[in-house]
Amino acid sequence: MAQKASINSSSRQASPLSGAVALVTGGNRGIGRAIALRLAKLGAGVAICGRDPQALAATETQLKNSGSPILSQIADVSRSAEVTTLVDKTQATLGPISILVNNAGISLFGPAHEKTEADWDRVLDTNLKSVFLVSRAVAPTMIQRGSGDMINISSLAGRNAFAGGGIYCASKWGLLGLSACMAEDLREHGIRVSVICPGSVATGFSTRGSKDPAKLLAPDDVAHAVEMIVTQGPQSFLSEIHLRPVRKP
Ligand SMILES: NC(=O)c1ccc[n+]([C@@H]2O[C@H](COP(=O)([O-])OP(=O)(O)OC[C@H]3O[C@@H](n4cnc5c(N)ncnc54)[C@H](OP(=O)(O)O)[C@@H]3O)[C@@H](O)[C@H]2O)c1
Repeated sequence: MAQKASINSSSRQASPLSGAVALVTGGNRGIGRAIALRLAKLGAGVAICGRDPQALAATETQLKNSGSPILSQIADVSRSAEVTTLVDKTQATLGPISILVNNAGISLFGPAHEKTEADWDRVLDTNLKSVFLVSRAVAPTMIQRGSGDMINISSLAGRNAFAGGGIYCASKWGLLGLSACMAEDLREHGIRVSVICPGSVATGFSTRGSKDPAKLLAPDDVAHAVEMIVTQGPQSFLSEIHLRPVRKP
């Protein structure tokens, strides 16, 4: 009997997210892929989305090695009809979403006064409106179940001003405001809304500045922060994480 209890406890440790279902937007490369791989390794069923079918197929193959149920779907998260289809299909295929990672995002740097209205719309729709759309689509299921984790990937650019940051910083500062207010709206339903603000991460995301690539954060550092959030004890939540590399790049 004691041996059976110890086997159950060690499998819980190896797969602490067994039975959970995660949706990671922009999970086909970069930080999102690292997060998706980490959640699948921890035992969660994982759905990823993006617009690039080749990157999606490659990451889906990698994810399937985990043995967890996987779904990959083409979706532009700035479009509400595509978001509805994405969330409905994820829940029909994998089950109710218990972990949502709003990760999809794009960069655009340069003085705001030199940018076009289309530039503004593209960045704000992708980095901020998408979080409203996807969270709104997922919230009813989490409310019904009385639990869930929503994790939004903002940036230290959502806290710090710098020349050429205008439109990108606006999207990430806005995301911090949205996240903090959603956390207040949803905590009474048992739903924890967290935000992660990474410094520069070594992905293909941005060519801004001339930082030492060896000293940048790795996508896996952000995945580790996501793991900390979803494995936090049920009575508390990590509301905002600022993630910095040990040595300044
Ligand atoms: N890298 C950094 O230094 C850094 C630092 C702080 C915060 N962040 C944030 O971390 C997140 C991920 O960045 P990353 O470095 O991993 O960038 P990345 O390698 O360029 O990946 C971006 C991801 O977002 C997806 N995406 C973009 N627009 C989308 C849309 N309209 N619909 C669906 N998916 C979309 C991309 O897939 P498709 O292109 O296939 O659509 C891709 O999977 C972003 O929110 C970014 O702002 C990055």
